[in-house]
Amino acid sequence: MKRVTLLIVTFLLMHGQMPLAAQERPISLIPEPVSVQPGKGVFVLTEATPIGVPSGQPEVARLATYLTSKISPATGFTPKTTQSGGDGGIQLLLNAKPDTRLGAEGYTLEATTTKVTIAANNPAGLFYGMQTLLQLLPKEIESKTPVRNVKWEIPAVSVTDYPRFAWRGLMLDVSRHFFTKEQVKDHLDHMARYKYNRFHWHLTDDNGWRIQIKSLPKLTEVGAWRVPRAGTFNTNDPPRPGEKPTYGGFYTHDDIREIVQYAKDRNIEIMPEIDVPGHSMAAIAAYPGLSCTKDPNTKVNPGSKFSTWHSNGTFTMHIDNTLNPSDEQVYQFLDKVFTEVAQLFPFEYIHMGGDECYKGYWQKDPGCQALMKKKNMKNTDELQSYFSGRVSTILKEKGKKTMGWDEILEGGLPSGAAVMSWRGLKGGIEAAHQKAPVVMAPSPHCYLDLMQGDPAVEAPVYSTVRLKDSYNWDPIPKGADSTFILGGQGNLWTEQIPTVPHAQYMIWPRAFALAEVNWSPKGRKNWNRFVTKVEAHFGRFDEAKINYARSMYDPIIRVKKNDAGLLVIDLSTEVNGLDLYYSFDNTIPNSYYAKYRETLVMPEGADMFRVVSYRGGKPAGRLISLKTEDLTKRVRK
Ligand code: ACM
Repeated sequence: MKRVTLLIVTFLLMHGQMPLAAQERPISLIPEPVSVQPGKGVFVLTEATPIGVPSGQPEVARLATYLTSKISPATGFTPKTTQSGGDGGIQLLLNAKPDTRLGAEGYTLEATTTKVTIAANNPAGLFYGMQTLLQLLPKEIESKTPVRNVKWEIPAVSVTDYPRFAWRGLMLDVSRHFFTKEQVKDHLDHMARYKYNRFHWHLTDDNGWRIQIKSLPKLTEVGAWRVPRAGTFNTNDPPRPGEKPTYGGFYTHDDIREIVQYAKDRNIEIMPEIDVPGHSMAAIAAYPGLSCTKDPNTKVNPGSKFSTWHSNGTFTMHIDNTLNPSDEQVYQFLDKVFTEVAQLFPFEYIHMGGDECYKGYWQKDPGCQALMKKKNMKNTDELQSYFSGRVSTILKEKGKKTMGWDEILEGGLPSGAAVMSWRGLKGGIEAAHQKAPVVMAPSPHCYLDLMQGDPAVEAPVYSTVRLKDSYNWDPIPKGADSTFILGGQGNLWTEQIPTVPHAQYMIWPRAFALAEVNWSPKGRKNWNRFVTKVEAHFGRFDEAKINYARSMYDPIIRVKKNDAGLLVIDLSTEVNGLDLYYSFDNTIPNSYYAKYRETLVMPEGADMFRVVSYRGGKPAGRLISLKTEDLTKRVRK
């Protein structure tokens, strides 16, 4: 290479403008496949590359159209679809004889210098093989506009792959903040890249009812709208007298059918959640007769505080947000709701909520007390179990199975119901013991609404779960019968998430970790390699313009007090190879500053500790600044 060319190439490489050749690019697949055998050479995707589809397979033809739609924006060309069996190109094949290793969602991908063959038993497997193919292409393939001067190379490789779990879910709460149809579709697209196949759609809660129910129009006329508030959830002002509820939205039946089809085209089943009997303030605002207190002034909650959480884990709801389980009209209401929900969603499960149900109003209600007496119930847990059983029967009549949060175990699990374990592992272990199907979605490891880095630089939430914690989590709890564990799920509650960029920030990269947890063989997990892959996928997200968190580069700060009463600061990192630079003198540290080597003692009189991470001489994490009083609050007893 001439010196001048060399200089230009070096410049372009340093500035990230020239894609690496496939052989130089490490293969960075998330989730990690069962087996990856690198070959020699590269396959080059060009304008002339056909996509081969077997004849008489319209589903595979649709997949080819999908693949084309992913390839065209960045490359600027549209591969032709041809009948499969040619010598070259990308060949999509359905196995004539099922490959038993692959199951319903597995695939093989064979890339040589002349041909890429994706084979599977089912279209779902081909879909996942195509996601792997896209991840093998340079990151620029994620661009939505044509990128010039990229060689669309795929490294020669042989991949065999299938999922560890049948349930690989993400939950999105659209009640606390509404996300539009197009935003939900984008989210489904992002899920599909990482081989998620279950979208749990939390459609109702105290802060908004988001699904049109034609036979109960007030649910959306009233329940979908609340007064606008820009402040922090749980501290917002309650609605003022006469104030117009203008913030919100809902999905029509047509919207839902469109989204269900969009998901199906990406091998994603949608499980809708109607959260009852608690978390029902939006429904009660629409139809106050549904609660015990029947308060006609009930309003959709705008993120104002209406509960007190006690130190023993119990809670009091100061506004009644609970359906009345002793009122037959409530079951007539739910029958109407679930008739329409069951018609709209083809998936076998409907989630009936069941979490955090406050029973204080039931205890005072003569109707509830009479029902408990009549049915010989010892406590209100049994009353909730009665309610869950009635809902489960309604769902069965509509041809659906019930899923609920782990509270539905209390007072007795309805027969045939599945449990989503969220208050840690206990509920999941107990449900599996009762031979009930379980989805493991425990807090904190699967709670994507929690902070992921140092609280000083994260949007405030009550707790933290870092990327490595989520990555190291396993869906099979010790002591549980694994045959009943369907898989795992990440949950995005949106009290503190009013926008799409912030939702993306909270989801990624932790949903990379959970994708790998749920898909990849346990033995293939490797934290350090995962971090390298995450960084490669950050590059892809930059191209795709999807937001993500770089919190993994922030130090973990632990504070103690020594015998002399001075603050002792211990720093560590979840990512290897970071250098931490700090100051105590209220100036801004960088790589010219003192480097952290061992536990620090805050000098007497110092009022500020600052720390920042670098890697390879370049800034990596964010500047964290903690005043003495902030550090003191963090002292571990
Ligand atoms: C939940 O987090 N309340 C299920």
